[in-house]
Amino acid sequence: MKAGIMKALVLHGPNLNLLHRRDPALYGTSSLADIDEPLRKEALALDFELSIHQSAREGEIIELLHAGIGEVEGALLNPGAYAHTSRAIADAIEAVGYPVVEVHLSNIHAREDWRRVSVTAERCRGLISGFGANSYVLGLHALANIVRR
Ligand code: DQA
Repeated sequence: MKAGIMKALVLHGPNLNLLHRRDPALYGTSSLADIDEPLRKEALALDFELSIHQSAREGEIIELLHAGIGEVEGALLNPGAYAHTSRAIADAIEAVGYPVVEVHLSNIHAREDWRRVSVTAERCRGLISGFGANSYVLGLHALANIVRR
């Protein structure tokens, strides 16, 4: 059982910086800032401090995961479309060892066939998908639960 303020990484993958320009039927109307701000508040209530990043680059996402070793208790990761393709991010999740919870705004199981498979989620502790911005909040609670256990 861990106590005190803990650090967690939040990684938003490609195209999530343009959330406000993407299909609102799939992704809602929030901007990324609209997601991050309440998430930080929720994190504080759970005694977490968040380090939040957005990157379109697979290698940078991998390096950010690596940089979390010894620094964070866990991570929330929305890999965007890399979820469906990136064995390299999947390997990084496995290698870092700390718990990673994958989140998606949309329900990837209710979309095109190719989105139903997440190769990165195979290496995560779990996957939360389909609850819009709330997927991140639910993911944070899941992470807090794992870390405190
Ligand atoms: C997404 C789902 C992915 O399939 C898609 O490529 C995204 C967003 C989501 O949060 O619903 O970019 O990760």
